[in-house]
Amino acid sequence: MHSYRVRRPRVGILVLATAVGASWALTMPSEGFETEPTATAIAGTSPDIVLAQATTKVTFSAEQADRGETRYGRECVDCHGDDLGGGLLGGPPLRGVAFLEKFGNGAPASGLFLFMSTAMPPDNPGRFTAAAYAEMMAFILEGNGFAEGAPLPSDPAALDTLIMEK
Ligand code: HEC
Repeated sequence: MHSYRVRRPRVGILVLATAVGASWALTMPSEGFETEPTATAIAGTSPDIVLAQATTKVTFSAEQADRGETRYGRECVDCHGDDLGGGLLGGPPLRGVAFLEKFGNGAPASGLFLFMSTAMPPDNPGRFTAAAYAEMMAFILEGNGFAEGAPLPSDPAALDTLIMEK
């Protein structure tokens, strides 16, 4: 886990690298890089998101996913389906190609978390604790084949450092 203070200086480096279209900065050794970093930012993203693409793959714990499944079954299933495939009340699928194009593909894990925790459920967005949203996200990650491992954080700054990659 990187502290804010540790990762802050890398923002400047990566932004510079992106700005001049150079890749030299991205090849610098860093203990945080598990995957080939990419400087491709999604439209309208901030420097922090460029930074986030050069860090650790997202994981979740089985315990989180189990708890998330229970709450999902109560709060989300009617709209999104018991297999995440879309539900009777018109929510889109939370797995598959279209979903992963939007929230996966190396985007920071904070993107999906922030959408869920600020927009869902539609009649009362933000009604759950951050930890509960992280648990439901863990269940969604599990359903999309992401790897189990360290617990998913529920803090957006920490989620910024994790990339949505399997
Ligand atoms: C009343 C129906 C309804 C309920 C209940 C509901 N959702 Fe949704 N959800 C939607 C709709 C409609 C959208 C599409 C909204 C949009 O695109 O702005 C959506 C979008 C989403 C998305 C983004 C999917 C995408 O492809 O853009 C996620 C993630 C999500 N919901 C998670 C949840 C979770 C977790 C819960 C339970 C806490 C939940 N939703 C409860 C209707 C619902």
